Amino acid sequence: MQAIKDKHLVKTHSYINGQWHKSHSTFAVTNPATSKIITTVDNAGIVEANLAVRSAKSALQSWSAMSAHQRATILRNWFNLMVEHQDDLARILTLEQGKPLAEAKGEIAYGASFVEWFAEEGKRVYGDTIAAPSADKRIVVLKQAIGVVAAITPWNFPNAMIARKAAAALAAGCTFVVRPSEQTPLSALAMAELAHRAGIPEGVFNVVVGEDAKAIGEVLTQHPDVAKFTFTGSTAVGKTLIGQCASTVKKVSMELGGNAPFIVFDDADIDAAVDGAIASKYRNAGQTCVCSNRIFVDESVLAQFTEKFSQAVAKLKLGNGLEQTTDVGPMISAQAVSKVEQLVKSSVDEGATVILGGKVEPVGSSFYQPTILANVSPEMPIATNEIFGPVAPIIAFRGEAEVIAMANNTPYGLAAYFYARDIGRIWRVAEALEYGMVGINEGIISNAAAPFGGMKQSGNGREGSKYGLDDYLEVKYLCMGGLAK
Ligand code: SIN
Repeated sequence: MQAIKDKHLVKTHSYINGQWHKSHSTFAVTNPATSKIITTVDNAGIVEANLAVRSAKSALQSWSAMSAHQRATILRNWFNLMVEHQDDLARILTLEQGKPLAEAKGEIAYGASFVEWFAEEGKRVYGDTIAAPSADKRIVVLKQAIGVVAAITPWNFPNAMIARKAAAALAAGCTFVVRPSEQTPLSALAMAELAHRAGIPEGVFNVVVGEDAKAIGEVLTQHPDVAKFTFTGSTAVGKTLIGQCASTVKKVSMELGGNAPFIVFDDADIDAAVDGAIASKYRNAGQTCVCSNRIFVDESVLAQFTEKFSQAVAKLKLGNGLEQTTDVGPMISAQAVSKVEQLVKSSVDEGATVILGGKVEPVGSSFYQPTILANVSPEMPIATNEIFGPVAPIIAFRGEAEVIAMANNTPYGLAAYFYARDIGRIWRVAEALEYGMVGINEGIISNAAAPFGGMKQSGNGREGSKYGLDDYLEVKYLCMGGLAK
């Protein structure tokens, strides 16, 4: 904490209606690398969540009535401040989340890029005119801000998942209430401090930090003044939240779990595939929804890929994210490590082989070694569950048809990756994969210009890109009649 230059970025109260809001109790925020308490934060609950929704409702009229250009200027200020304070924001993020500092800086740039993107995109909301069925009528379509937006965001990207939702909502003219994960509240509060400095008016952006996810979540999903609810997190929790939103028929967008296949065909550039698999699998210690979860390798290149991949993974240095030499940081908690340990153990019991790693690192209970499993079959627990940890299970396949069937045999449909060079195969496989996002000869696919989102039980709606505003806009049709002389 001492190394943070702008100490005012470290906030410990919820940010509601442009003010820092005290609560009656506190909770601790822990550094996953050391298990030490970083600070305590005021523990908001139902009262604060209701207050935040009321504030967002009061601010809605004036914010949505501003021109898109005025909103863009304010959002641009927010973007500039995030870039200016990138180092401090990254350090706060690493301290509470664990990812290596270079990755955390990358996340701040990634989060800020959504604010910049939507500041611009908000100016390009177009309506429509439609030929009417009779000469005395005109049909006009308007796009208007949907209203108050509530969000619940996860700990794995404590900055970018808020920025991706809030920037789109605010650019569209909506006001916003977010409940960040209780494991990473400090990044959200630092964003609120910068939103304040950027001139985002009171009530437009609110952050409610509290341990009681269920109670706050019930307010945000059931409050009649919330028009739209958005969530990033597990499919199981997403289903519950969708159910809760039904009572007030809210518009919902969900970015849920994944089980990404990463396919290496026999015509792939193997070195490129190794680099892509490492980037996709070990980013954020394997704790991303788009992480490769099952690595399928054509049996004719299995030995070659496995050897090169193992050599490269063996070089990854596990450690505290604040140390410059660290490639892979801790997992978020010892419980998260136990879940991964259990998946590895049960798969080894069913015949998988650990060819690298496979243990909790002695330096601390949150560190799990970068791991590779061979002889994995698609039915094993490591292949059917979202691992959310630094474990790469390798599954052999024979031919396109077999691997497409295996890749699609999951309720999830977020991201998929494949490496191949034959152009016919590239089109066939890209079209056959039942996934919202497909990386072709590419292991990192997320950016502000591209539509992020999933099919099947990985969710609905798209974030980022020109499509990202749609989830925050209502389509209103005006029928103008009586035009005949
Ligand atoms: C996620 O894991 O939910 C987001 C990953 C990304 O934006 O790349």
